[in-house]
Amino acid sequence: MSPILQVSHVTKSFGGLKAVDDVSFEVEPGRIIVIIGPNGAGKTTLFNLISGFMPPDDGEVAFEGASLAGRPPPHIARLGLVRSFQIMQVFPDMSVRDVVTAAALLRLPMNAAVEWADDVLAEVGLAHKADAKPPSLSLQDRKLLEIAKCIATRPKLLLLDEVMAGLTLAEASTPLALIRRMREQGLTFVLVEHVMPIVMDIADRIIVINFGRKVAEGSPKEIVNDQAVRDAYFGEAIDAAH
Ligand SMILES: Nc1ncnc2c1ncn2[C@@H]1O[C@H](COP(=O)(O)OP(=O)(O)OP(=O)(O)O)[C@@H](O)[C@H]1O
Ligand SMILES: [Mg+2]
Repeated sequence: MSPILQVSHVTKSFGGLKAVDDVSFEVEPGRIIVIIGPNGAGKTTLFNLISGFMPPDDGEVAFEGASLAGRPPPHIARLGLVRSFQIMQVFPDMSVRDVVTAAALLRLPMNAAVEWADDVLAEVGLAHKADAKPPSLSLQDRKLLEIAKCIATRPKLLLLDEVMAGLTLAEASTPLALIRRMREQGLTFVLVEHVMPIVMDIADRIIVINFGRKVAEGSPKEIVNDQAVRDAYFGEAIDAAH
């Protein structure tokens, strides 16, 4: 099966800092890939490069075989590649329904977008919060709203940046189940997550990033058993997951 996403040698520097340094990987359709790595490792920057929010200094990203070079984020989203934001960005007067409707407008006219937004809110379990203002939501519900915004654009590939961070394992079970359900429907996921029990539970493959570089890639089992990964970065966290 040909990859849905090909990231080839992407590099991004901020001044003298190489935030992303020659990273390459491929994602097969229908997979859940999880990117892990310490704070500041370059994970969000990598998502910015893939989703068109920042141009890479070097290297290339291809979606369904076509280069994304020079394409702006809305164009990339229309192709079916969307990302969530680590920090919620909303206009203060918008309701939860408005926020999801705005995302749905990427593909649908207004009336259809409102209807689809309500369907998406039902799917993620936020229908009862449709009229609430996002800042009033619990952390768990804000994370579900981030996912809802992505789903509303009818994507093929979702990049979700720490949508389970800060949740208890019990709270994370809702987004985990949602991600699995959507994968059953054929969607592909690249997640950034820190909590190793969650990572081990959901990942088909894990990519480890440190100081902007890909330092390991493999199945959860391979990553757990990678002595360099254990020693250098995640020994304690992985032990805690067992
Ligand atoms: N727009 C920017 N301008 C300058 N430096 C930046 C910018 N964005 C990120 N950086 C720097 O690049 C490095 C990688 O940041 P990035 O946000 O990608 O890390 P991360 O792996 O997502 O971290 P976290 O786990 O804390 O979310 C950091 O040193 C950060 O300070
Ligand atoms: Mg980040």
